[in-house]
Amino acid sequence: MRRKLVAGNWKMHGGLARNRDLLDSLVQAMGKGGSADCAVCVPFPYLGQTQELLKSTAIAWGAQTLSEHAQGAYTGEVSAAMLVDFGCRYVLVGHSERRSLYGESNEAVAAKFVAAVKGGVTPILCLGETLEQREGNITEKVIAAQLDAVTQAAGVSGLANAVIAYEPVWAIGTGRTATPQQAQDVHAFIRERLAASDALLAQRMQILYGGSVKPQNAAELFGMADIDGGLIGGASLVAQDFLAICRAAG
Ligand code: PGA
Repeated sequence: MRRKLVAGNWKMHGGLARNRDLLDSLVQAMGKGGSADCAVCVPFPYLGQTQELLKSTAIAWGAQTLSEHAQGAYTGEVSAAMLVDFGCRYVLVGHSERRSLYGESNEAVAAKFVAAVKGGVTPILCLGETLEQREGNITEKVIAAQLDAVTQAAGVSGLANAVIAYEPVWAIGTGRTATPQQAQDVHAFIRERLAASDALLAQRMQILYGGSVKPQNAAELFGMADIDGGLIGGASLVAQDFLAICRAAG
């Protein structure tokens, strides 16, 4: 049985006072752990605060992107080692907003993935197709290209300490969720593609679903055979909603 993971993606939201309220509520309700793992991916400036509030709890934390470089003249960038300094267990890699708004290609995402693995931070690799691609019946082709770029750069064994998140772009922040079956089909495709290189790794891989997950739809999504938890945007900013989603995974 794969353990379920629910990871929050705060995106560019937060503030010291608001974060404290949110994190305190999470710690009170599930700081001692539960049957599913739980994590929050926060903006860089709040990593110190998050570490302070979560360090002796069962809730993990992480960042939303990282540099592909280890160090150097890369103004504004943040390395894997810096994330480790702040206790990050996870880092999102290749979120669709990074791909579409900041021009991160499959190759750039793969380089960041490799940097995270080398640096000792678990990458949560985000994959997903746009509405146009889904309607053009090229979902599997798009997902395969995104995944293959990473397996080529990292080697399939490089995925042993990684998590995958399937996030259809058309479902992110739109209120439009993939049906459990639509999500399951893509999750199964991802697992089969990994299994072609390494059956055991494929079987162990946690594949999260993301895109308008809410308390009302979480249990049904998490009940699908290949859905191992969720990557939660909007609902991760509301303590009661995020907690309800975590409970649905447990
Ligand atoms: P959403 O975002 O839950 O608000 O749709 C998910 C994500 O972008 O990770």
